[in-house]
Amino acid sequence: MTRRLFLAGTFAAPFSGRARAQARQSEKVLIEPAVEIGVIRPELHGHFAEHLGTCIYGGLWVGKNSSIPNINGHRKQAVEWLRALGIPVLRWPGGCFADDYHWRDGIGPVQKRPRRVNIHWGNYTEDNSFGTHEFIELCRLIGAEPYIAGNVGSGTPQEMRDWVEYCNYPSGSSLADERAANGSPQPFRVRYWGVGNENWGCGGNMTPEEYAAHYRRFSTYLRDFGDTRLFLIACGPGGNNLEWTRRFMEAMPRRTRIHGYAMHYYSRGRDHARRFTVESLRAQLATFWDLEKAILEQRALLDKYDKDRRIGLLVDEWGVWDRIDPEEEKRYGRLFQHITMRSALAAALGLNVFHRQADKLVMCNLAQTVNVLHALLLTDGPRCIRTTTYYAFELMKPHRGATAVRVQAPEAPPPALSVSASRRQDELIVTLVNPRHDAGLDVECALSRGIAGNARARVLHHPDFNAANTFETPDLIVPRDHPVSASGSSLRVELPPLAIVTVQARLSGV
Ligand code: AHR
Repeated sequence: MTRRLFLAGTFAAPFSGRARAQARQSEKVLIEPAVEIGVIRPELHGHFAEHLGTCIYGGLWVGKNSSIPNINGHRKQAVEWLRALGIPVLRWPGGCFADDYHWRDGIGPVQKRPRRVNIHWGNYTEDNSFGTHEFIELCRLIGAEPYIAGNVGSGTPQEMRDWVEYCNYPSGSSLADERAANGSPQPFRVRYWGVGNENWGCGGNMTPEEYAAHYRRFSTYLRDFGDTRLFLIACGPGGNNLEWTRRFMEAMPRRTRIHGYAMHYYSRGRDHARRFTVESLRAQLATFWDLEKAILEQRALLDKYDKDRRIGLLVDEWGVWDRIDPEEEKRYGRLFQHITMRSALAAALGLNVFHRQADKLVMCNLAQTVNVLHALLLTDGPRCIRTTTYYAFELMKPHRGATAVRVQAPEAPPPALSVSASRRQDELIVTLVNPRHDAGLDVECALSRGIAGNARARVLHHPDFNAANTFETPDLIVPRDHPVSASGSSLRVELPPLAIVTVQARLSGV
């Protein structure tokens, strides 16, 4: 979004303390349907599931003998809701876990699989009943493209190259035959392969130069088989670490096969998820303005080395990471946190950033799908609920595959109104996020070209940023229809404080 002051006529009514909803401001936004940014690849709405806490075991995977309804061991309710949401891509098995995972532990007869200690996330043991075949089956069940993160930190090039062959070689090699004997004669056709994860930290504590050397060596042996063209993803920085990117790219000969470069960007929360203050709310939501800056700066730096943009930028892990409660972790698993109205706003702010920067990104994966950090679903034994973040993604789903177009909104210190817009043939899709707790916004979206008609809108809103869908009140915050008016070249919509609104309208005359 170009942060240009479009209209100086913004005004604020006085408000005090709790009379938040009475404060209203008028905002004008300019949408330019003919100024195309780029296609919003569905993969910008991607997700991530790690062997961590109860994301896999107890969350997505309950086992075939569980009394919890399941499909071959996959929690049925989770499968149904994730399929309904239409997750475009799912990254697995980590995270930090990836660089200590040995794929052979997770294939073959389940009773013969070894029990291993998950050293990154609490030294608990895993029986490896969820392995490569189960992951691919989950992806097929929910309609997601699989993305596997390989082990560089404690693994070998041989181990990773064999994993690729096991997954992708059509038939006739010992590894392909082994896959067939384990129940999958058809190759898995896994395109996306991460060459390590956070190798500056849990993935081996390497310098950029050391990692670049590992990357070159590993990638040499990762090959295309059959009709599956690999998309190899290198470990990028944590946050906006330009030094990592510069040194990694300097050490990388131009001919190296590298298709993606993965930065991680978490939005830390100072408080427990249900006990945010206005200050911690503002501080966390403001990080999404920094995220946008980080994407711009990382891409600009990559462009110096990669003028034709052959290397795609990923935000491979992102989301809110709040103060974790040890007692809740004991009950629900490591890195469990509640997902509130604030978390949904954060998700929508992130997706708006990705839409606006659609020409600079190839994939973004929220961390993580179930019970860990910024989750879509939470489970407690047999119970499973959709979080506010699930609904934020649902509300913004119409943008997937559409072409992002330019939006100009008023200059204001974050957290302020956030907008993204896209176009698919004669449909205009606009998502507006009001992250402010203390003012509603009357927004007029003026179109620089074209006429809008047949507008409809949905909203996700709750006046309390600490409110959440819980196991007791699973449907407290759900999307609802919302009034919007379209007249000529303008759309008008009211945003209550703490609200996400997606408008869809027919567009003609562009
Ligand atoms: O998502 C939790 C952890 O955060 C991942 O394992 C790691 O990659 C990152 O530091």
